[in-house]
Amino acid sequence: MKTRHNIIICMGSSCFARGNERALGIIKSYINKNGLDANVEFRGKLCTELCNKGPVITINDICYENVKPESVTDILDSVFTAG
Ligand code: FES
Repeated sequence: MKTRHNIIICMGSSCFARGNERALGIIKSYINKNGLDANVEFRGKLCTELCNKGPVITINDICYENVKPESVTDILDSVFTAG
């Protein structure tokens, strides 16, 4: 059985405006391109009071802070190639 991954992207206005709007599209196409739909639960959530550390993305309970859209693919690669 494959590991199920959990991705939560902060869609609060601060994170959204500072990069998560682009990160959202990047994550969606990464999931599609790699056929990961069945293995990933991807959802958004509202502000989690970490705005000063944002944009924030949480993957498998690890909170990534100050995520730049251009770093998202590298983060996803590290998660998904680690198995
Ligand atoms: S908007 Fe993302 S933590 Fe506040």
